[in-house]
Amino acid sequence: MRTPIMLASGTVGYGGELSGLCDFSSVGAIVTKTVTEAPRDGNRPPRLAETPGGLLNAIGLENVGIERFLDEKLPAAAALGAPVVVSVAGDSPAAFARLARRVGERPETAAVEINISCPNVERARRPVWDDPDATAAVVAAARAATGKPLLVKLSPNTADALSVAEAAQRAGADALVVANTLPGMRIDIETGRPALGNATGGLSGRALMPVNLALVWRIAAGVSIPLAGSGGVATAEDALEYLMAGASAVQVGTALFLDPDAATTIAEGLRRRMAHDGVRSVAEYKGMAGRMST
Ligand SMILES: Cc1cc2nc3c(=O)[nH]c(=O)nc-3n(C[C@H](O)[C@H](O)[C@H](O)COP(=O)(O)O)c2cc1C
Repeated sequence: MRTPIMLASGTVGYGGELSGLCDFSSVGAIVTKTVTEAPRDGNRPPRLAETPGGLLNAIGLENVGIERFLDEKLPAAAALGAPVVVSVAGDSPAAFARLARRVGERPETAAVEINISCPNVERARRPVWDDPDATAAVVAAARAATGKPLLVKLSPNTADALSVAEAAQRAGADALVVANTLPGMRIDIETGRPALGNATGGLSGRALMPVNLALVWRIAAGVSIPLAGSGGVATAEDALEYLMAGASAVQVGTALFLDPDAATTIAEGLRRRMAHDGVRSVAEYKGMAGRMST
């Protein structure tokens, strides 16, 4: 990647939405909105609610479905000039495999991101993201279906994220995204009703960062594949924290709502910092926190 800054799934639509608002030469990769086999309308509005230091979203995987995605959205995303990572989600390992195969066959797809952190997948009692065996089944199925690099996006909403991460690595993941949103809620005290149409949603933004940073730090010590930190990155300093915790890249999401060109701001900040530190490659920062504490 030309910079370690990726644009996180769901926060840039299919990519084209940022056309003219973002200098894509600062972007290491665009991750598309998660695509499912059938089109989805998503959850009842309102779907966004602000919280102190964060954002709640309950979009509910609204997307145009794989056919329209491949026909219209993927070529448009690829035309922006940054590598395109396609995020997919299915309701069974076989569905993940079909999606990975379809998107992986396309030359515009640089990599496939498996979103196991969405709540509507098989195994009603114990969600896939909380279950190493179910995670391994999904990742192995997708692995067998495509030769493209495979990223697996974990959830912070799990008791043992390291076991899930290790299972994803064993099943053939090339990299892990750490991590998605945490469940959260707001209530409108005038009406007494939940602020979101779906009642609860996923918490993103600055409030999420310490949680996902700790996960990166923990998981980096237990797996050998690269990690992309996700959660609350808005500045070069935030990105540095993730690199020092053991990530090789970061994904920026909620910050794009305030600054659609945040990748440029962060990339320039990182360059300044590297010059100041006499560092030639961001890889030199990688895992510094782990090394110092051992
Ligand atoms: C409005 C919105 C929609 C999102 N949609 C998706 C999605 O479709 N698939 C996915 O894997 N993550 C989705 N996410 C999660 C982000 O990709 C990211 O992992 C998370 O927001 C944490 O990063 P941030 O604090 O930088 O936003 C969404 C987040 C937001 C705010």
